[in-house]
Amino acid sequence: YFIGIDIGTTSVKIIAIDEDGKIVKSVSKEYPLSYPKPLWSEQDPEDWWKQSINGFKELLDDLDKKEVKAIGFSGQMHGLVTLDENDKVVRPAILWNDQRTEKECNYLNNEIGQSKISQWTGNLALAGFTAPKILWLKENEPDNFAKTKKIMLPKDYVAYKMSGVFATDMSDASGTLYLDVKNRKWSSEMLRVLGVTESQLPDLFESYEAIGCMKPDIAQELGLSKDVKIIIGGGDQAVAAVGGGVVKAGSCSLSLGTSGVVFTSNEDFFVDENNSLHSFCHANGKYHLMGVTLAAAASLKWWVEGINKSDDFDGLLNEAKDAEVDDQLFYLPYLMGERTPHNDPNARGTFIGLNITHERKHMTRAVLEGVAFSLRDTFEIMKAMGVEINDISINGGGAKSTFWCEIIADVLNVKVNKLNSNEGPAYGAAILAAVGFGRFHTVEEACSQFIKITESINPNEENSKIYNEKYGKYTKIYPATKELFK
Ligand code: XUL
Repeated sequence: YFIGIDIGTTSVKIIAIDEDGKIVKSVSKEYPLSYPKPLWSEQDPEDWWKQSINGFKELLDDLDKKEVKAIGFSGQMHGLVTLDENDKVVRPAILWNDQRTEKECNYLNNEIGQSKISQWTGNLALAGFTAPKILWLKENEPDNFAKTKKIMLPKDYVAYKMSGVFATDMSDASGTLYLDVKNRKWSSEMLRVLGVTESQLPDLFESYEAIGCMKPDIAQELGLSKDVKIIIGGGDQAVAAVGGGVVKAGSCSLSLGTSGVVFTSNEDFFVDENNSLHSFCHANGKYHLMGVTLAAAASLKWWVEGINKSDDFDGLLNEAKDAEVDDQLFYLPYLMGERTPHNDPNARGTFIGLNITHERKHMTRAVLEGVAFSLRDTFEIMKAMGVEINDISINGGGAKSTFWCEIIADVLNVKVNKLNSNEGPAYGAAILAAVGFGRFHTVEEACSQFIKITESINPNEENSKIYNEKYGKYTKIYPATKELFK
């Protein structure tokens, strides 16, 4: 078996696949998330480790342990984990969705300057990234900063405990804002700005590379051979893309989860004109771009549960199917501010263009369309850079609605594929384990064997034309209203 483990934000998910990529067993174990102050979001790295071991024990319970060959990792990105000289956790990890670093981001983007930050790292400072968190620690908890001997990302902590090797990979390291993404090495300029030395950072590997084997005492506890290989894996977005087969140049996925992500796999390193996309290393040894709509399925959840006080998602979606497209009714999905393309934490959600004839069904339809338009913003930036996109594979909870998938196909005017694998990052991590073990030569080869399209939705030409005009109007609303929400 090949095992994939994803250190998620709410739980760790572990799956075992066989030689043919079939899922044999999957388990997940939750851990708490704490919000000690407004804007803060933290977790105890020891919880990740304890629940990973508990999860492994349950997974291996009725599997032939001798058959376990390699373990691959995936994890929530950007989190700051700090260890002291005795390898003890210095303070709780500061997570990707923690928003405490506005001041530090302003310092990086405005005082050091966007052009330097972008030139050194391929990206701009965003509140969730790791570098501004290090500056926050230095300023607000100098004793903890002084004690810190090792700085790592969430999955790297679990991989370190399991293998004893202090390692990370290029895709996850891209989200730190101190990796020189283009040249796949730590950025000495950024390390100087942060006051961190390379000796505090893990060694860099490609996501499909083995960093070592399982530590003998852990192997014994789990009943596994100490020759089980540990494959470093990657950040959850890149590894989910591997799990969805998005590894060839120009291939594209769209994730309709709480947040929505449009992700393309690229042969070469690119940065868009305004650096509004994340320009990261991919888990196949190449590069990727992604743009994030913070409230995607979260918009629908807010509308159905929060506003309509209903849990009848299917009922509201069916009703919306009956509503004609209204080219003057718009919804902007910025309920939690927005990353792409505006990078504006103060942006707000809006309905614009209501009249006396509108019913709930029109507004539900507008929510689905508004999310699709926001994802098209990312899609357009990618196309403007010359990325040729012929089809996209769709995943995430929102993709269960064929109606929403059809709207996405029409708004983006592109074929939308559904796949046999919908297990996300844990599946991608198991694929990386198979590659790292040597079952395949490349990540591409593994994906082409394991991942199949099960359904394709083609855009409807007439709807695409209508939505194209409507999108033109949609793009005028944010610039015209943003001053209201300072
Ligand atoms: C990626 C991102 C999230 C986290 C948590 O940029 O912020 O996907 O990795 O899953």
